[in-house]
Amino acid sequence: MEKIFPESFLWGAAASAPQTEGAALIDGKSPSTWDKWYELEPQQFFNQIGPKDTSNTYYLYKEDVRLMKEMGLNSYRTSIAWTRLLPDGQTLNTKAVSFYRNYFTEMLQAGIKPIINLFHFDMPWWLMEKGGWEMREAVDAFAFYAQTAFEQFGDLVKDWTTFNEPMVHIECGYLGEAHYPKVIDFKRAIQVGYHTLMAHVKAVQAFRQVGISKGKIGIILNLSPIYAKSQNPEDQQAQFYADLFYTRSFLDPVVKGEIPLELKNVLQEHGLTPKTNAGDKELIRQYKIDFLGVNYYQPLRVQAPKNQVFPAKSPGYFARGYNWPEKRINPHRGWEIYPAGMYDLAKRIQQEYDNIPWYVSENGMGVEGEEKFTKNQVIQDQYRIAFVKEHLEYLHQAIAEGSHCFGYHVWTFIDCWSWLNGYKNRYGFYQVDLDNQFIRKPKLSSFWFKKISSQNGF
Ligand code: BG6
Repeated sequence: MEKIFPESFLWGAAASAPQTEGAALIDGKSPSTWDKWYELEPQQFFNQIGPKDTSNTYYLYKEDVRLMKEMGLNSYRTSIAWTRLLPDGQTLNTKAVSFYRNYFTEMLQAGIKPIINLFHFDMPWWLMEKGGWEMREAVDAFAFYAQTAFEQFGDLVKDWTTFNEPMVHIECGYLGEAHYPKVIDFKRAIQVGYHTLMAHVKAVQAFRQVGISKGKIGIILNLSPIYAKSQNPEDQQAQFYADLFYTRSFLDPVVKGEIPLELKNVLQEHGLTPKTNAGDKELIRQYKIDFLGVNYYQPLRVQAPKNQVFPAKSPGYFARGYNWPEKRINPHRGWEIYPAGMYDLAKRIQQEYDNIPWYVSENGMGVEGEEKFTKNQVIQDQYRIAFVKEHLEYLHQAIAEGSHCFGYHVWTFIDCWSWLNGYKNRYGFYQVDLDNQFIRKPKLSSFWFKKISSQNGF
C-alpha cells in the first residue's frame, strides 16, 4: 500500500559538530572535554581515532551540501560547537562566525533547511575544569552562548534546539564512564540534570528575547518507549520509575512547564533533591518549547529491581533491564530493533503531550565492517534500507492517526565519528574513506532515500 507523507515533510539527516567537523583545535577553537580526554588517554578511543580526525566537514562542507542535495535531503540537523564560537566563553571567534554563516548559507541555497542544535555532549574544557554542569555558573554561560548564536545566525537559521539527549551526558558522565568526567554519583548526576534543564530554559528565554522572526525553538530528547516485563505490580512500578527518570524528567518540564511531582517526591525521599534558585520554577513554567526532537533507536524493557540497597546509587535502584525473548537485535551495536516503538512514542506525544509538533531527529543503524558488502564499488546496505523503511511505516501510521510529526532525520548522512567507538559502527548513507582524504562514496541506501524523498513516501 502507498504511504505518502504530509506536504512539506522534512526528509533529512542528522549529525553534530564534534562528530563531523574535524579541525578540532584549528582557527581559534578551544578544546572540549572530548578533545582533552583524547589528548590525555588516546588508548580509550577505538583504534585511537579521536575528535580531531572526524569527517572533515570544516573543510568539505561545500561538497557535503552538494551531496545532501544530490540525495534529496530538504533539511539537515547538526550543531554549533560552543568551543569554536566562543573559545573562552566570552570572546566571539570571527572565523567561527564566517564558517557557520557560509555553511548555513550553502544549505539554504541548496534548498536545505538547517535545524541547528547548541550542545551535543561537547562541554568546553575551560568550563569542565571549573566543575561543568555541576556549577550553577554553567547555566548562565550556556545562556550567553545561546544568545550569541541566535544573534549571529538568527537571520539564516529559524529552527533551533538547545540540547541533544541531555540524559546521555548525565548518565554516561555521572552514572557511568563513557563521557567525561567519568564519575558515578547519583546526587551529582541529579544536580547536573537540573542545571542542564535550567540552561535549556534560560536559552529558550534568550531566544524569545532576541526575537528571531518566524523562529522556533525546541530540544532533542532520546525517548525510548519503556515496556514492563509483566503486569505484576513490582514490574509495573519499575516501569513507572524508569519512565519518570528517563522520559518525564525532561519531557514534562519542557512541554508542560512542570517537573513531575512524583519525581520531586522520590528525589526528596532519597536525599537527592538538587539545589535550586528562587524563580526557577516560574522560568520553567514560562519558557516552554515550540517543538520536540525525538531520537529513537531502541526501547527499554524493564523489570522489578533485585536487592535494593539504600542509598539509591542510580536509576537502576528503581528498575532493572531484562532481555525480551522475542528481541531482534542489531548484532553490531547490540541494540534492539523495534520499529513499532516509533508508533508508541508518537501516540504518547499525541495523547499525553498536547500533540506538540515533533520530528524524528535521529534514527539509524550502525554496522561494523560494511566494506565487505561492497559490489560494483557501492556498499549494498539493504539492512539499513529495511531498518529505515520499517520505522517509516510505523511513523506513517501514527501520522495518519493524527500525530503531528513533521519530519524524519536519519542518523546519519556521512559516516561519522562516534565518541569512544570512533568509526567502528558506521551509520552513513555515504561511506567516508578514512585512508583516502575522507572521500565520500554513496551507499545503496542513499539512492533509495533520494527516491522516497522525491516521492514524499513509498
Ligand atoms: C545518539 C547520539 O545517541 O546516538 C549520537 O546523539 C550518536 O551522537 C548516535 O552517535 C549513535 O550512537 P553511537 O554510540 O553508536 O555513536
